[in-house]
Amino acid sequence: MQIIRSIAQLRAWRKTAGRLAFVPTMGNLHAGHLALVEAARQHADKVVVSIFVNRLQFGQGEDFDAYPRTFEADCAKLEAAGVDVLFFPDERELYPRIKQDFNVEPPHIQNELCGAFRPGHFRGVATVVSKLFNIVQADVACFGKKDFQQLHVIRAMVDDLNMPIEIVPVDTGRAEDGLALSSRNGYLSAEERAEAPRLYRHLSAIRDALLAGDNRYAVLEKAAADDLAAHGWRVDYIEVRQADTLEVAHAGEPRLVVLAAARLGRTRLIDNIEVTR
Ligand code: PAF
Repeated sequence: MQIIRSIAQLRAWRKTAGRLAFVPTMGNLHAGHLALVEAARQHADKVVVSIFVNRLQFGQGEDFDAYPRTFEADCAKLEAAGVDVLFFPDERELYPRIKQDFNVEPPHIQNELCGAFRPGHFRGVATVVSKLFNIVQADVACFGKKDFQQLHVIRAMVDDLNMPIEIVPVDTGRAEDGLALSSRNGYLSAEERAEAPRLYRHLSAIRDALLAGDNRYAVLEKAAADDLAAHGWRVDYIEVRQADTLEVAHAGEPRLVVLAAARLGRTRLIDNIEVTR
């Protein structure tokens, strides 16, 4: 695996690469990321993974400084997964003027769900992803469904701005007890880790109720949020939304997604389940 740190070098390599798939990451890689790499390999001749912890998408008081940087271990995993190039720019390479003057501004959905609790987050994601797309110039990019709102924002950006790239969604990887794989799971204490699958159990219970024809979204959301709170969680939101638009769901809606974000101690976990009925 070649490690490339400069934009110029990556662009030169890209000209030789044929059909190219791209997996953007912030590092601290786990099996969920490797599933993205596997999907990428199935869509192209060559695979590029980027590792870049993007300051722009972290709010004040969030975990930008503490975000785990595990370069050596990440390289070993990517090498074993057959990745062709790791793009590993430093901050000055991606943000040479330190401040980014032009940003990609997502529509109102950026202020809802996770965006209501992380102002500016999706602007930071859309901006860095569009920069990376322009740099890597891949044919395909793979994104995990665990970050369902992020996937929605990226797809809308690609559609609305006519970006010449295909977005491939990849199912959420889960531990045996259902917990969605996430780099932030490493922040959980042993006790919190044992408690963490409760979030997925509630999403599953809401899915089952929806499949059984229940349309009382607010009642289902509140029951789950109350139980989580009773077990020490601080719930940011649990909401049933339309799967394709992320707009508020109306009774009888056939394609839904149940999304949640909640904090256990200092760790903020997110998860979701799609429901088609
Ligand atoms: O999902 C992530 O890891 C990040 O939001 C991404 C897409 C790499 C942009 O920094």
